[in-house]
Amino acid sequence: MNIVVLAGGLSAEREVSLSSGSMVCAALNRSGHSAVLVDVFFGPGELKDARDFFSAPGNEEQFNIDEHAPDLLKVRAMRGDSGLGTVGKNVIEICRAADIVYMGLHGEDGENGRMQAFFDVLGIKYTGSGYLGSALAMNKAVTRRILAGTGVPMPGGVALLKGQDRQPAYDVGVPCIVKPCSGGSSIGITIAHNREETDRALDEAFSYEDEVLVEEYIAGREFSVGVLGDTVLPPIEIIPKEGFYDYAHKYQPGFTEEICPADIDGQVEARMKTLAKRAFDELRMQVYGRGDFIMTPQGSLYFLEMNTLPGMTPLSLLPQEARAAGISYEELCGRVIALSLQKYE
Ligand SMILES: Nc1ncnc2c1ncn2[C@@H]1O[C@H](COP(=O)(O)OP(=O)(O)O)[C@@H](O)[C@H]1O
Ligand SMILES: [Mg+2]
Repeated sequence: MNIVVLAGGLSAEREVSLSSGSMVCAALNRSGHSAVLVDVFFGPGELKDARDFFSAPGNEEQFNIDEHAPDLLKVRAMRGDSGLGTVGKNVIEICRAADIVYMGLHGEDGENGRMQAFFDVLGIKYTGSGYLGSALAMNKAVTRRILAGTGVPMPGGVALLKGQDRQPAYDVGVPCIVKPCSGGSSIGITIAHNREETDRALDEAFSYEDEVLVEEYIAGREFSVGVLGDTVLPPIEIIPKEGFYDYAHKYQPGFTEEICPADIDGQVEARMKTLAKRAFDELRMQVYGRGDFIMTPQGSLYFLEMNTLPGMTPLSLLPQEARAAGISYEELCGRVIALSLQKYE
C-alpha cells in the first residue's frame, strides 16, 4: 500500500511525533509498503506526480527528541510564509494519493479531532480514532465528565477557566497536580504543595491554554494499558528515576524504568484492563489507544487519561506492551492499518 505517515506539525509535541513517525515509516517499509514521512506543517515540497512520491527512496532516519519541548515560534518562522494555516503546501494532495494516512501526529491538531474531521469530509482514510473520540479524549475535563458515573474512578478535581475565581482550585487541597486540559507529554503539568505553588502551577498551565484541570495528587505506582482493537495489552509499570513522569522522563533514555508485563496480581491486572477498555469505549475511541493509571499503596486504582495517538518512539509504552504480548513493532503498525481500514468497510 502507498501510505503517508503524517507527523510533526505545529504542536509542542512535534519532535515526539517526528520520532514516532520515522519509526513507523521504517517499519511499514520493512513490511513491504511504500511509506513516506510527511511533516504536516512543512508539507512534502513540490509534487509533480503524487504517485512518484511513494517510489522515492525512504526518508525515515531516526529522529532524536530534545530534552525540552521545541519553540514553536521558531518552527513557524522556518516555513517562510505568513500563512496562518497549520497544514503545509501539498499535504492534502499527497494524502489523497495514499491508500491510507498513518496518523503519527501528537498534540493539538493531530489528536483533537480537527484533522480527522477534515480528512472525513475530504474522503481521506486515516488510522486510529475518528473525530469524535479524538476530541472527547483529548480534553481532560470533557473526559472526566463523560466517565463520571461509568464506574471508571478518577482523582477528585475541578476544571478552571482563565480569569475565573481560583477558590475551587484551592479547595482541591494539596498536594495537587495542575495540567492544561488538552495538553500531552506532561507539558505544562506541575505538582503543587501549597497555595503559592498552586498559583504558580495555574499560571504555568494557563500559559498553554485557557482551561486547566486541578486534581488531587495521587501517590502510588503508575501504569499504562494499551488497547488494540478487541485486545487489551498487558499493563506496563512506569518508574521515573526521580520526580514524576514529565517530558524529560518520557523521552530521554535512562530517565525512567519500565516493567512490562507489570508485576501486579491477576485481579488488579484484570480490573485495569476492564477499566481501560471501558474508558476507550465510553470515549468513542476506535482502533487503538492507551490509558494511564495510578494505583495507591492500598490498591485503589485511579484512571488519569486516554491517549488516542499513543507514542510510537523507541521508548514508548505501547510498542513495549505489544512486544510483551508477542506482537512485534512491525506487526503492531500492520494491525493499526488493518483495523483502521475496517472502519471504512
Ligand atoms: N492526579 C494525579 N496524581 C498523581 N500524578 C499525576 C496525576 N495526574 C497526572 N499525574 C502525573 O503526570 C503525568 C502526566 O499526566 P497525564 O494526565 O497522563 O497527562 P499527559 O497527557 O501529559 O500524559 C502522569 O503520567 C503522572 O505521572
Ligand atoms: Mg499521560
